[in-house]
Amino acid sequence: MGRGLMMGACAAALLLAAPAMAASAGAKAAARPWMNSRLSPDARAELVLAGLSLDQQIALLHGVMPVFLGPKKPAHVQISAGWMPGLPELGIPDLTESDASLGVANAGRKDDDATPLPSGMALAATWDPRTAFAAGAMIGKEARQKGFNTLLAGGANLLRDPRNGRNFEYLGEDPLLAGTLAGQTIKGVQSNHIVSTTKHFALNDQETGRMVLDAVIDEAAFRESDLLAFEIAIETGHPGSVMCAYNRVGGTYACENPFLLTDVLRTDWKYPGWVMSDWGAVHGVAAAKAGLDQESGQQLDKQVFFDKPLKAAVDSGEISKARIHEMAHRYLRSLFAAGVVDHPVTAGGLDTAADARVARRAGEQGIVLLKNNDFLLPLMSSAKSIAVIGGHADVGVISGGGSSQVIPLGSKSFAKPPGAPQWGGGQVYYPSEPLAAIKARAPGARVTFNDGTDPAAAAALAKSADVVVVFATQWSTEGMDIAMSLDGQQNALIAAVAQANPKTVVVLETAGPVLMPWRDHAGAILEAWFPGARGGEAIARVLFGEINPEGRLPTTFPASLDQLARPVLPGSDQHIVETLTPSAATAFAVTYTEGSDVGYRGYAKSGAKPLYPFGYGLSYTVFRYSGLKVTGGKTLSASFTVTNVSNREGTDTPQLYLTAAPKRTQQRLIGWTKVTLKPGEARQVTVSASPRMLANWDAAAHGWRLDGGAYKIAVGPDAATATLTGSAKIEPAKLKP
Ligand code: BGC
Repeated sequence: MGRGLMMGACAAALLLAAPAMAASAGAKAAARPWMNSRLSPDARAELVLAGLSLDQQIALLHGVMPVFLGPKKPAHVQISAGWMPGLPELGIPDLTESDASLGVANAGRKDDDATPLPSGMALAATWDPRTAFAAGAMIGKEARQKGFNTLLAGGANLLRDPRNGRNFEYLGEDPLLAGTLAGQTIKGVQSNHIVSTTKHFALNDQETGRMVLDAVIDEAAFRESDLLAFEIAIETGHPGSVMCAYNRVGGTYACENPFLLTDVLRTDWKYPGWVMSDWGAVHGVAAAKAGLDQESGQQLDKQVFFDKPLKAAVDSGEISKARIHEMAHRYLRSLFAAGVVDHPVTAGGLDTAADARVARRAGEQGIVLLKNNDFLLPLMSSAKSIAVIGGHADVGVISGGGSSQVIPLGSKSFAKPPGAPQWGGGQVYYPSEPLAAIKARAPGARVTFNDGTDPAAAAALAKSADVVVVFATQWSTEGMDIAMSLDGQQNALIAAVAQANPKTVVVLETAGPVLMPWRDHAGAILEAWFPGARGGEAIARVLFGEINPEGRLPTTFPASLDQLARPVLPGSDQHIVETLTPSAATAFAVTYTEGSDVGYRGYAKSGAKPLYPFGYGLSYTVFRYSGLKVTGGKTLSASFTVTNVSNREGTDTPQLYLTAAPKRTQQRLIGWTKVTLKPGEARQVTVSASPRMLANWDAAAHGWRLDGGAYKIAVGPDAATATLTGSAKIEPAKLKP
């Protein structure tokens, strides 16, 4: 039979079968009315629930960590953060969850490939919502391609302390910046028809004692800071789920906190999705009453509270059937809303080479040029000899540890420091060597490497070279906090090298802010954070000017520990062993007396001078601002002209700050824009603030209050530099919570 004939026969057979298939499809559709995608997610969830028994509903409210299932683990279930069986007969898929915000964490599976983004700090340093979306879209795509329909992404805790060991998973100290970018990554993840979370709700702002600490803050300050970041992230990204945190807030565990989970999330923000617990964060069925909808990682809790104990609570009348229905509804409606039911995941098609380009672009954009004496950077191709020193630059780039750890193939691991949690990999270096990337860009130069373990030998090499690039690292992981400094003896190394050769470029691969006692001696400083899958290349491209640096700090770099709101990290004076069954004896409070004056706002208030201010970052291009016009009314807009006064194209991030308002003098970022200009080009830009960013939370009136009167603003390249100033009259208003 010829090929054409065979195809003809197949087509004819299909045609004959068509009416029968249509009839059975019609019957199926009638039997599963919730599969009608024209109905709202809520209506679809209700249709499913109409046929579910109480036991079936409760089965949707608790999930396992597959690794603990042992031989009971069904073959198709992957080792990952979480899994819960679906209702296959109804077309509701299993819940398949993977960590986390920076890529698909591979839970220690050595043969598994995935593409890690640069850290959250690097993403935040891009100040670019489009980059955040692209980053989320890439990791969401990989999650899908690996068979996961839920990515535990969307970390949005504020950087209140540079020593928080998880800052690298978050997006800096400002609620508008962090909330906007978290929202965009969530949107990007969910553009793949999978669910993203936002986490850890709320005030999980340090790791020391995270299972026991009680975060204490004034309500108005809370609404204007950490809660605002989550509020913006949720409004922007519509995450299917919110993950409540381990710690207590105002005396009550976050996962059983009615203020957080019901008053704020449901009553005020009208959040429709489901709240899942952090893994091991449930302490009883009281959580269900407070607003928790699903117990995650159930084997980590003392009991599986949302199974038999929850049923018993219904039987005793402690919890109503209506509440169980509501919990299951919120879960199912999010699966419909995200597209998980209509577009079931099918694993396969991973293209890590293409995905690495997304990671590289984000890494490049997030690199911040902190210092550049006498135009030491970009490096000239005329340099005859380049000494590369330290930071395992011959191996790759460092990454952050813990549940979010992505380990691409080819990574190398170094031992963890004493006291670090046992789980979550070692100090993992991604296979993107800065040394190789530098060599590739300096074919005519002698490029030599010294590992930096002997500062004297490194200094001798530095002396003999035209230019020195010294790499320095600060490792960080979930489960412990860190010192605000480079690891080990690297300060002494940099000091010795920079003394030996003033043409020393320091490249920092840090989790967050570090002190720089050698700063005055360094010729140039680049902050590259944890730069991700192609970090070595991203750094080299900036060093050699293929990329004009455009990153801006998403956090203040303090000049000393004394400048912190809490110079001694709460809980660091006690020996707190991280345990999932915390005892009241180890509980302690972290009182956020700085309120919403987090980071730069506190510096504006005290007048203290940081090492580098929030928003700061140089470029190989110089920009000027002029011609400010401010308009008021219902909200505030500032128009001004940005001019590139250099001879190369560059991208600038002018920032708009509120500096004084009626009854309040607090400085606040209220908007920003990014503008790319050719040499000599000038462009007028307009930055508008949303009314809420001008308002204060009025706890008595339960809403945002915009006082009428004069609002003063500054336009500048960072929080400490008011290049243009102006003011506008704003009308009073009361805004909804
Ligand atoms: C972390 C979460 C993570 C979860 C599942 C917890 O320890 O705090 O961020 O999603 O584990 O791995």
